[in-house]
Amino acid sequence: MQLGTVVELLDQGAFVSGEDLATRLGVSRTMVWKQIQTLRELGYKIKAHPRRGYHLVSRPDKLYPWEVTKGLANQLIGKTIEYYDELPSTNQRAKELLTSVDEGTVVLAEMQTAGRGRLGRGWFSPPGTGIWLSIILRPPFSPLELPKLNLLAVVALSRAVKNALDFRPLVKWPNDLYYEDRKLSGILTEVSGELGRLEHVIVGVGINVNQRINDFPPELRTKAGSLRMAAGCFVDRKDLLRKYLQCFEEEYFHALEQGFNRSLDYCRQYTATLGRPVEVDDGRKVYRGEAVAIADDGALIIEHDGQRSRVMAGDVQPLFDR
Ligand code: BTN
Repeated sequence: MQLGTVVELLDQGAFVSGEDLATRLGVSRTMVWKQIQTLRELGYKIKAHPRRGYHLVSRPDKLYPWEVTKGLANQLIGKTIEYYDELPSTNQRAKELLTSVDEGTVVLAEMQTAGRGRLGRGWFSPPGTGIWLSIILRPPFSPLELPKLNLLAVVALSRAVKNALDFRPLVKWPNDLYYEDRKLSGILTEVSGELGRLEHVIVGVGINVNQRINDFPPELRTKAGSLRMAAGCFVDRKDLLRKYLQCFEEEYFHALEQGFNRSLDYCRQYTATLGRPVEVDDGRKVYRGEAVAIADDGALIIEHDGQRSRVMAGDVQPLFDR
């Protein structure tokens, strides 16, 4: 018996009798009672009345798979959700599951104890306030297309935020989401495969959702932000995640059929990078100049010292004092 089914049967706005529940679920009344207890342990508030039965009072702020997928019609992304209360890192868990799960599987944790960021950094992942997830993909793309897949992942998030909260965070190349110079989310993509072929891709996404400024460690307080800080109200994480999975699938299917132009155009239109003086470190060289374009292959074009350079991956810092 699926717990999600029990929740939906309980959510009728009125009391539902134990007998009714047992009939509809095709189980005994004792089994119904056990399921009610399990749901209570998971944080659901359920009233019980000796004659009238049960009534769902409230749902917890948890990303249980049956809550996230409620009404989600996706064919691939999030059809399977591996949910954990706590993990060291969802990317690490996704790596362990890589060969045994279907494409589109999402690994999700309420908190991470060793969340990983880009360029060997850590990622602050406290319980209950953010969304920490990894999506497993087996795309028929060449490794050269990875920068575009990175952009696609952040474009989908910007679209999802617009759908859920009616404001549009900007895309900071290569794959961050910004609002008023604060970083709202980051993406760490990890790949495995042979030369010329991407076998598996893990798209690890960290979204700061309901943190307030003091919830961040002091060293992040000047640069990190959350959707709650940007929107000025508490954000429903389940709804946002559902919309993200929807937008991701839409964007991914579009890219599979017609290429990445739609995602690239979105990045160029809603950009936090282009037209700004920046410092870009691609791991080999540091460029100081202006970010002038995103090329069709996803590279960032920097104009510096009278010439143009292409950067395929790296870290971009805005330069305010030029
Ligand atoms: C960055 O440095 O901007 C990328 C941060 C990526 C964090 C996410 S949270 C879910 C997934 N699991 C990890 O360990 N990291 C990514």
